[in-house]
Amino acid sequence: MACKLAPESENRAQLSPTAAHSGIIICLMQAAKNIPISVCFDDIAALAVGDMRAVDQLISASLNSDVTLISQVSQYIVTSGGKRLRPIIVLLAARALNYEGDQHVRAAAIIEFIHTATLLHDDVVDSSERRRGKESANTVFGNQASVLVGDFLYSRAFQMMVDVGDMRVMRILADATNTIAAGEVMQLMNVHNPETTEDDYRQVIYRKTARLFEAGAQIAAVLSRQDDAVEASMINYGRHLGTAFQLVDDALDYAASSEELGKNIGDDLAEGKATLPLIYAMQNGSEQESKIIRDAILEGGLDQLDHITAIIESTGALQYTAGKAREAANLAIESLAEIPESRFREALINIAELSIQRRS
Ligand code: IPE
Ligand code: IPE
Ligand code: MG
Ligand code: MG
Repeated sequence: MACKLAPESENRAQLSPTAAHSGIIICLMQAAKNIPISVCFDDIAALAVGDMRAVDQLISASLNSDVTLISQVSQYIVTSGGKRLRPIIVLLAARALNYEGDQHVRAAAIIEFIHTATLLHDDVVDSSERRRGKESANTVFGNQASVLVGDFLYSRAFQMMVDVGDMRVMRILADATNTIAAGEVMQLMNVHNPETTEDDYRQVIYRKTARLFEAGAQIAAVLSRQDDAVEASMINYGRHLGTAFQLVDDALDYAASSEELGKNIGDDLAEGKATLPLIYAMQNGSEQESKIIRDAILEGGLDQLDHITAIIESTGALQYTAGKAREAANLAIESLAEIPESRFREALINIAELSIQRRS
């Protein structure tokens, strides 16, 4: 797939355009010097192509069920072109740490299953109608089927965890899954609450998103029997990367096009979700602008989307959010300083860069 370079001006702004929903296909550009360096997500994925094929095979084999609706719904979502970012991180991190076994493949598939289950549930909770450039599973098959097949995927992931045969890995995955669920509930409690602070928001995104990235990177360290310091570095990498990823996601909910993102724009506002762009715009807009946002959070709905997008723009809320994503990505990159240099470590660094430049 050809790399597409973002125009320099937009690249420097925050969230460079490009890409389609089928994957992060943007390239990196040295923003300050405007020198294109051709690093695409596909180039990064190519480093782990053999492992990724094994992950895909395991995913397909693990979806089997004699219950037709399970196969239908799970095939629908699994084959609909997700980025497979989390499994790729597990695979690259394991290689970066010179892991020589094959349990990283199973761990990567488990993490993608957990991620997919959260998406099935999340789209029901968020009433989201599009995902991965298609109608979401809940739109096609209904809420009940999405919730129940999400449960099937979670429980299949637990079965696969037993196959890894490592109590520490099992503990990390069990804890991460539980934390994600708590994060989604915490977010539900914040919905329609205009008093939600940036700190509240950060706690939610750590739990619902960053924790799974953290688990993936940590498992690579555990499988390859690293010492505590390296394990801590990998945990930090995952945590900061996941934070950056969700910050960008929340900016894209106002800044991207539905076509690029593969999801409907404005879903967060429709649900009255106080994400960082809204929190910042509410705090930094005029009294009248703050009230418009406050009311929109209280009531939900998209009536004021254009007006609110304009307030987000004029208050610099997207730049602020992008700046926070940049800070988190830098922390992720710094966390890798003690890991031996290799093309795999380089790929992990590039993933942090791409995650904040993505449009999908
Ligand atoms: C979507 O994650 C959920 C968030 C944490 C924002 P991805 O953007 O990685 O979803 P897919 O798997 O590529 O569709
Ligand atoms: C993603 O939250 C986190 C989980 C699915 C656990 P979002 O609700 O922001 O993700 P999208 O925007 O629906 O992908
Ligand atoms: Mg959602
Ligand atoms: Mg979102």
